[in-house]
Amino acid sequence: MLFRNRFLLLLALAALLAFVSLSLQFFHLIPVSTAKNGVSSKSRKRIMPDPVTEPPVTDPVYEALLYCNIPSVAERSMEGHAPHHFKLVSVHVFIRHGDRYPLYVIPKTKRPEIDCTLVANRKPYHPKLEAFVSHMSKGSGASFESPLNSLPLYPNHPLCEMGELTQTGVVQHLQNGQLLRDIYLKKHKLLPNDWSADQLYLETTGKSRTLQSGLALLYGFLPDFDWKKIYFRHQPSALFCSGSCYCPVRNQYLEKEQRRQYLLRLKNSQLEKTYGEMAKIVDVPTKQLRAANPIDSMLCHLCHNVSFPCTRNGCVNMEHFKVIKTHQIEDERERREKKLYLGYSLLGAHPILNQTIGRMQRATEGRREELFALYSAHDVTLSPVLSALGLSEARFPRFAARLIFELWQDREKPNEHSVRILYNGVDVTFHTSFCQDHHKRSPKPMCPFENLVRFVKRDMFVALGGSSTNYYDACHREGF
Ligand SMILES: *[C@@H]1O[C@H](CO)[C@@H](O)[C@H](O)[C@H]1NC(C)=O
Ligand SMILES: *[C@@H]1O[C@H](CO)[C@@H](O)[C@H](O)[C@H]1NC(C)=O
Repeated sequence: MLFRNRFLLLLALAALLAFVSLSLQFFHLIPVSTAKNGVSSKSRKRIMPDPVTEPPVTDPVYEALLYCNIPSVAERSMEGHAPHHFKLVSVHVFIRHGDRYPLYVIPKTKRPEIDCTLVANRKPYHPKLEAFVSHMSKGSGASFESPLNSLPLYPNHPLCEMGELTQTGVVQHLQNGQLLRDIYLKKHKLLPNDWSADQLYLETTGKSRTLQSGLALLYGFLPDFDWKKIYFRHQPSALFCSGSCYCPVRNQYLEKEQRRQYLLRLKNSQLEKTYGEMAKIVDVPTKQLRAANPIDSMLCHLCHNVSFPCTRNGCVNMEHFKVIKTHQIEDERERREKKLYLGYSLLGAHPILNQTIGRMQRATEGRREELFALYSAHDVTLSPVLSALGLSEARFPRFAARLIFELWQDREKPNEHSVRILYNGVDVTFHTSFCQDHHKRSPKPMCPFENLVRFVKRDMFVALGGSSTNYYDACHREGF
């Protein structure tokens, strides 16, 4: 009972806190928000001018609830903002799939009972949910590159399967899609009224949760979701590096990074003690419990307001959760300092960034294809891209996270193009390594596209510290 009350309180708090959270991520505040649903203007007034009431950014439960990204919390967004004489040319969207069922079970406990069917009158609601289901059930195999055509187009199990997208996950991306539609289609007319298939570029990994997330986003985004105009490509690699995945030095960075992670964990005696206690509760060896990655399952309990599992030896509880989550936060902090992950990220993210600037370059040349690109991906996709761009302070990608590259043309100087980078609706352009000190050096209000090109073609490799100037050399450096 005590647990439940505290839980309720936490969830209520989270709704308020999540509202102001985005501005915490980077140290600037952003203009007025639009409350869409949920949070009343009264609570907004109370909380907006008083950042003092926010917990320290490292509060583990607060962080975890941001990660859940529970819908119905008002959303603020800076996508599509530019001076009037700029025209939006193309948009490149990277998403993490929405809320999913855990990938691991806590051994010897009942797994959380979450219903993965889509039900219009069950929370979280979305006005388009019912239409989404009916449209998806008419889906056409011709819209997918093999083996995507064997995947279900929406979640549909009364007890979720492992890793399955939930209703929450679908709603998160319907909301993302609708938000982007209001900005990019209604306001900026990115696509012409008679848009065609080749104006979209769609790519997803081969998991049902990424495909379904991509479909939900598109369903919210497109004014008419016509199966004949949809073609999803399949990306076999979570790094989206198809064709350029072989990179031995990247793997060496990753091994060193994993070694760092392991050593940090060994140093944390409280963490070891907690795993020991939990192992005793579920009656398995500590090693087995740890290998079952219990935080993944515990986050699902937290995000879905389902109490943590119990056995006759006791219950997994919030204190256990806090210790493990706090360790995760510390791990991320050390990861930034030691820079091994940065090395991994620069090489890991190069192919997809290179592909993206290629697509942008074609758009600057006036080509009207691939105006909207969507990559439906994972935390292990977004995280290296963020890190490679120099956004190491950014939070770990939450469910349904979105990272967006916007390409703009200056109507007064049509040969000049600019980029904006947005993470979960926050403009992070001037936090990237390629535009960090732009304001100091240039009077231009926007970040020049050339900066991004120069970064991807050259400076990424300079940042690795060796003498390599291209991807192939950097990947095969001797004696690293
Ligand atoms: C959480 O669950 C309890 C019952 O277990 C319920 O009374 C409460 O309304 C739920 N809270 C939210 C925010 O859904
Ligand atoms: C980068 O993109 C160009 C085309 O835009 C391509 O020719 C080149 O092979 C790519 N390089 C890598 C390492 O992916």
